[in-house]
Amino acid sequence: MELIIIIVSLILSLVVLPILWLMYKTRSPKEMEGIPGNLGWPIVGESFSFLSDFSSPSGIFSFMNKRQKRYGKVFKSFVLGRFTVFMTGREASKILLTGKDGIVSLNLFYTGQQVLGPTSLLQTTGEAHKRLRRLIAEPLSLDGLKKYFHFINTQAMVTLDQWEGKKVHVLEEASTFTLKVIGHMIMSLEPTGEEQEKFRSNFKIISSSFASLPFKLPGTAFHRGIKARDRMYEMLDSVILRRRNGQDFQQDFLESLIMKHSRKSDAQEDENKLTDKQLKDNVLTLLVAGHDTTTAALTWLIKFLEENPNVLEQLREEHREIIANRKSGTDLTWSEVNNMPYTAKVISETLRRATILPWFSRKASQDFEIDGFKVKKGWSLNLDVVSIHHDPKVFPDPYKFDPSRFDEHLRPFSFLGFGNGPRMCPGMNLAKVEIYVFIHHLVTRYKWRALEKDDSVQPTLVRMPKNKYPIIVESL
Ligand code: HEM
Repeated sequence: MELIIIIVSLILSLVVLPILWLMYKTRSPKEMEGIPGNLGWPIVGESFSFLSDFSSPSGIFSFMNKRQKRYGKVFKSFVLGRFTVFMTGREASKILLTGKDGIVSLNLFYTGQQVLGPTSLLQTTGEAHKRLRRLIAEPLSLDGLKKYFHFINTQAMVTLDQWEGKKVHVLEEASTFTLKVIGHMIMSLEPTGEEQEKFRSNFKIISSSFASLPFKLPGTAFHRGIKARDRMYEMLDSVILRRRNGQDFQQDFLESLIMKHSRKSDAQEDENKLTDKQLKDNVLTLLVAGHDTTTAALTWLIKFLEENPNVLEQLREEHREIIANRKSGTDLTWSEVNNMPYTAKVISETLRRATILPWFSRKASQDFEIDGFKVKKGWSLNLDVVSIHHDPKVFPDPYKFDPSRFDEHLRPFSFLGFGNGPRMCPGMNLAKVEIYVFIHHLVTRYKWRALEKDDSVQPTLVRMPKNKYPIIVESL
């Protein structure tokens, strides 16, 4: 144990601190003199207060709010090794999200960039980005998703069958459900068995390496993430090979991309073809972008329903009516899933209150001006979405969970649950279908009670309840 402490201290003092110091010195804070705010201590900046607020119940909102009161809607800071300008408000969100004239690009952490690979949709810009978006648009459209409905419905019921009379951690259950759905959708993975287990364990390691420290030494989360990514790519390689040899044919996401896929290099331009690398990087991107987000949304929604019995009753009414109006058959149908107006508002209100992606990160690709401040090329810019979602002028009594806020059409850029502009979430139909189906079976079968009153949040990029939300479930 002592040896481990000595090694960790050595690594910290010989490697981590000098690198952070270098990062601090090479990006001169002088450039940012025109922007209000405080860069905090040398090397660590304001990282400690950022991290401690990050995992508090109100999340980074308390970090933002304190500084917005002091400095206004635009302020600078130095957090997690980056000089960053935080911004909020509709004007900033319009400029940053529409990215007019390519003035910004997405700004992933270094570890995320390395794990996902250079051809990931998250790392492409301009025409290359548009092309990838076009390729994934069809299989993720409502029409394209219809063929997975039966699988999603069955998995929701199978998961919920296990809940009767039990104590469950909603976050874990939601995670298993959403991973089975996406594994099936992407490569027709069976919901149980050895392959599913391999897929799950590799995915978990990849996911937790995402915002880890950028040191690729054996034993670090980053190193484990890269290894797990390589194993995941081996799995994909063997599926792709089987498909190419005609040993296997499935109507899934991978198949639809393989049809648009070739071994030619990128230099041989072809609108409809992807290289092996692009194919794998983007399958992994969809997994990473789609899993934790949907898991978190489903968990928060179930939590908010328990805390707001009137909303739960109204929601249950909508789903009982669906069953009562059913003319033939006993099972949920695709057309019913596409007609759940109150549930749709409950989802939006969940995404507003929980703001599971609390900030959207961009990098300036050129110099420009925002809210009267000059921004320089290369700066990291973070849009504070929590403040936008809790602006009392747009959402009166902002901490109240009230789906009726979405009865009226909201002004653009005041609700960013799935983002906006060219990087708006391409997976939102899939996420909504999963939630509609799961919630339908949940509220028509069960009531539940929270076992802990703890509102702490995990310090991860996607906001999730720290205690995984344990509940006790009973049949209605
Ligand atoms: C409730 C669940 C989900 C939420 C709340 C959510 C939210 C978001 C948001 C806010 C963005 C924009 C971020 C930004 O502008 O920086 C985004 C982008 C993205 N989402 Fe989702 N998402 C969800 C589910 C999914 C699913 C199921 C998939 C895929 C199967 C997915 C794939 C993506 C991808 C690939 C991007 C990046 C798009 C681009 O850069 O062009 N998401 N998501």
